[in-house]
Amino acid sequence: MSVQFSEQKLNRVKELVSHYPDGKQKSALIPVLHLAQEENEGWLSVEWMDYVASLLQVTPIEVYEVATFYTMLNTKPVGKYVFEVCQTGPCMIKGSSDIISYIEEKLSIKPGETTKDGMFTLKTVECLGACGYAPMMQLGKVYKEHLTKEKVDAIIEECRREAQRIMNN
Ligand code: FES
Repeated sequence: MSVQFSEQKLNRVKELVSHYPDGKQKSALIPVLHLAQEENEGWLSVEWMDYVASLLQVTPIEVYEVATFYTMLNTKPVGKYVFEVCQTGPCMIKGSSDIISYIEEKLSIKPGETTKDGMFTLKTVECLGACGYAPMMQLGKVYKEHLTKEKVDAIIEECRREAQRIMNN
């Protein structure tokens, strides 16, 4: 197997598994998949999923089932910035469809696609539990709330500036 966690990440996996009774290591699957995703530029290749399966002593199919079910886990390459726009009822009533269309138009991508420069991925997801701040989206670990077209413009610009800063360093 050619992929593997660093020593530090393996310790983190052990620590996560230790939260559960013996034989229930599968319960640590989601946080371990998050770690794997971090190691692999934001997505889970079959190689990484198989590695996680071997670490947690579960079958690969058990890992695939979880990885393909949850929208926060990506099973194909994603851009540096992933816009996860909520499309559930309360966000829809507050204009999420317009926000999604605006992002599609602005970045020339449809939900599930990544811009050619590998910078942005657009995803539509179900309720993220921030309905009072609708319309909203998740960007990495941050919620962007009360979205407007102007806010979307500012978010895209900020992402581009940040990417540029990282490239220059
Ligand atoms: S409906 Fe969008 S956060 Fe709940």
